[in-house]
Amino acid sequence: MRSKVTVVGAGNVGATTALRIQSLGYADVVLVDVVEDLPQGKALDMLEAGPVVGSDAVVTGSNGYEESANSDLVVITAGIARRPGMSRDDLLLTNMRITSAVTSEVVKHSPNCIIIAVTNPLDAMVQNVYESSGFPRNRVFGMAGILDTARFRTFIAQELDVSVEDVQAYVLGGHGDDMVPLVRYTTVGGIPISELMAEEKIDQLVQRTRNGGGEIVALLKEGSAYYAPSAAITQMVEAVLLDKKRILPCCVYLEGEFGINGLCVGVPAKLGAGGMEQVVEIRLTEEERASLNQSAASVQELVDVMHQAKAEQSQ
Ligand code: APR
Repeated sequence: MRSKVTVVGAGNVGATTALRIQSLGYADVVLVDVVEDLPQGKALDMLEAGPVVGSDAVVTGSNGYEESANSDLVVITAGIARRPGMSRDDLLLTNMRITSAVTSEVVKHSPNCIIIAVTNPLDAMVQNVYESSGFPRNRVFGMAGILDTARFRTFIAQELDVSVEDVQAYVLGGHGDDMVPLVRYTTVGGIPISELMAEEKIDQLVQRTRNGGGEIVALLKEGSAYYAPSAAITQMVEAVLLDKKRILPCCVYLEGEFGINGLCVGVPAKLGAGGMEQVVEIRLTEEERASLNQSAASVQELVDVMHQAKAEQSQ
């Protein structure tokens, strides 16, 4: 029997993710969006690709959640992009309201599902979905680290003229300007990057990775990245549906690991049929720990703004 995956948000990231999952062939996909006819149109278009790509997976579009009932996994990409004149907090609170509403529907219709949140600002939205869902932390986590790491790996492979497959890297912390690329754990064919590249060059690539999302936005003019993000989401979906027990950087609700408690931040985690099955703690140097703490403090600031807005709402 095929698994069932719902993707909420049929925009660039959601639709591309749905297409990638459909092409795997072992999961049916329900695409949900508030825009009338949009998810239906995109889903039908994908379904009609099935005979060509050799996938019997069924893709369905909907403006409601009935079709999504009893999904094994739900990916949340619903949200709005930051518009000119909009403050960071405006975006935060708008996407908080959207992801809260989406989560309540998801929980109602798929009480046993695993949720992967993708909406930005990522770490704060994962925290919101986790808190709104009432699910245990193994069933709610977010995608950012694989994308950040993939960007870093791409730049390293380009620079050294080697296969991307041979470049292993780790990016921790929040999905923002203060993400923490772990240079010490970055290897090429098992060889530490410091043996192959000057420190100055590594620093340049780290900086480019930090600005990876912005670089794409500047080129696209409208909208933000979606090919690499959807590939990263699909890797997480596959790890769960196929119980692969992959160790991947994910945004996870920490309960004391890495000295952080009660906050969603990017760390290495094991993904399998149980969702986020384990946080993999690694020893950090003083400097790395300080960077991670700084990154977590930025996430905490956003979470505090959300909590305050929620407290005001409920008064
Ligand atoms: N329920 C369902 N869908 C919604 C809702 C809602 N309450 N509110 C908005 N949407 C839909 C929009 O109609 C739109 O189709 O979410 C979709 C978002 O798509 P895009 O604007 O194309 O954004 P996209 O590039 O896909 O990014 C989605 O992922 O990477 C992050 O920063 C990105 O937060 C953004 C999200």
